[in-house]
Amino acid sequence: MKRRAVVVGLTATTVGTAAGFGSGARAATQDWRAGAGAGARASADLVFDPDACTESTLTIKDTAGVAHEVVYRFYKVASYVAEPVDATYQSLNVSVPVKIDGTAVDATGAPILLANGIGGYMPSSVANNTGIVASGMGGGTSRQALALAAGYVVVEPGARGRTLVDASGVYYGTAPAVIVDLKAAVRYLRFNKGRVPGDVRRIVSSGVSAGGALSALLGASGDSPLYDPYLKEIGAADTSDAIFAAGAWCPIIDLEHADMAYEWCWGANPLNGGAQVDPAVSGELKAAYAEHLAALGLRAKGFGALTARNLDAYLLRTHLEPSATRYLAALPGADRAAYLAANPFITWSGGGSGGRATFSWDGFRTHVGARKKNAPSFDGFTLATPENNLFGTGTTKARHFTLYSLRHESGDSARLDADIPAKLDLMNPMHHLVENPNRNRAKHWWIRLGTKDTDTSLSVAGNLSARLTSLGDDVDTAYYWDAGHGADQDPGDFVEWIGEISGYRL
Ligand code: DHB
Repeated sequence: MKRRAVVVGLTATTVGTAAGFGSGARAATQDWRAGAGAGARASADLVFDPDACTESTLTIKDTAGVAHEVVYRFYKVASYVAEPVDATYQSLNVSVPVKIDGTAVDATGAPILLANGIGGYMPSSVANNTGIVASGMGGGTSRQALALAAGYVVVEPGARGRTLVDASGVYYGTAPAVIVDLKAAVRYLRFNKGRVPGDVRRIVSSGVSAGGALSALLGASGDSPLYDPYLKEIGAADTSDAIFAAGAWCPIIDLEHADMAYEWCWGANPLNGGAQVDPAVSGELKAAYAEHLAALGLRAKGFGALTARNLDAYLLRTHLEPSATRYLAALPGADRAAYLAANPFITWSGGGSGGRATFSWDGFRTHVGARKKNAPSFDGFTLATPENNLFGTGTTKARHFTLYSLRHESGDSARLDADIPAKLDLMNPMHHLVENPNRNRAKHWWIRLGTKDTDTSLSVAGNLSARLTSLGDDVDTAYYWDAGHGADQDPGDFVEWIGEISGYRL
């Protein structure tokens, strides 16, 4: 961790014509709805105006604690589509560094960090932001500010989300709206090659949790024709939506298999307060995961085919023991000894800071303790989870998206709504990686997850990593020891990684 940003001062001066927001954007939306000729005007209206910005100065502390004065231009794009459904969400901001520590920088060829702020599959708006969002989760600094101080262009897109509902009760932000919007944002950037600062062939997306899932999906599904009708409908630019790299922190993906995966991983763990989940439900879902894994056909070096029998060993050897080893090796000797004394399930061999942690799956999952979610965790029997809402449609707020939960509630002859299978594919990065791997996927991947994150199974990110590795992609995966949901313990390393994979240096 070399960079951590703290905003010390912010001053703004207007350069050119600052693009208005709020009421202006809404007026534009109404124009589109009024309709005449919206399609014909589409591409002209998607032209980025390189002069419509404000210029500000931001003091950003890097992760070594060194303050940098960054002068940057801030552009508000009222909508990245020609026919927005709701421009409050379908808009984006662009931040471009022009001077760092008194030295002019030219970001024309810089990589572009596309940082989504999506959480919980909820709507995400950047419409009211007047500058880069410089503070990150937990009061620290944002990835965006670190990227800006490294000389990169930063794009912050908004996107529709599951809870949006119009005056007639129609849910207009359920699947696949959020990924369609992010793709439209990518297309906007690529359409504006040469006008928008930065190298549009070097778009690196980032996101956490649901945002991490969408970042991974953006990376996996680049240029997939499956999204074309949806993109057309909102007047997205007619160009590529492939991205160069994807960063995904605790990605909540593979939703249709997440209930099974959860019981495989955390099935034996108690809920908060000590109660166990329904053992019949847990056991059935766990058994279904074994079948799913067998059909999936994942492989990993040193393990061959990944099955319910060796998936724990794969996670232990490939991700969890190296995570504990890094954590313990970095501790001062006395702290390491105290940690090991308090956690006897870990064997520390080799001694000192050069040791190596080993432990059993059972020892590990007992150490993690309470599971966050009941069973089933994602397709809830009572339709009350975020994911039930994500797969809502029309005036129906929430639906089942797995046969297991549907039939548990409605009997063995019940069938999923006809549109559900295609929507699951549209929302699942694994769909684009497993059977017919998408050739236009991102080839560089940064995957991070806390070992105490029980928002989903630890195998979800592990499977993604294994599949991408098998495909030959450049995959940097690490689990953060004892860290919970949303952790980011190496933000400076991510920013450096972007420089390495893109070959960009200030
Ligand atoms: C998020 C967390 C969840 O547990 C989930 O099911 C979906 C999204 C989130 O933090 O974004």
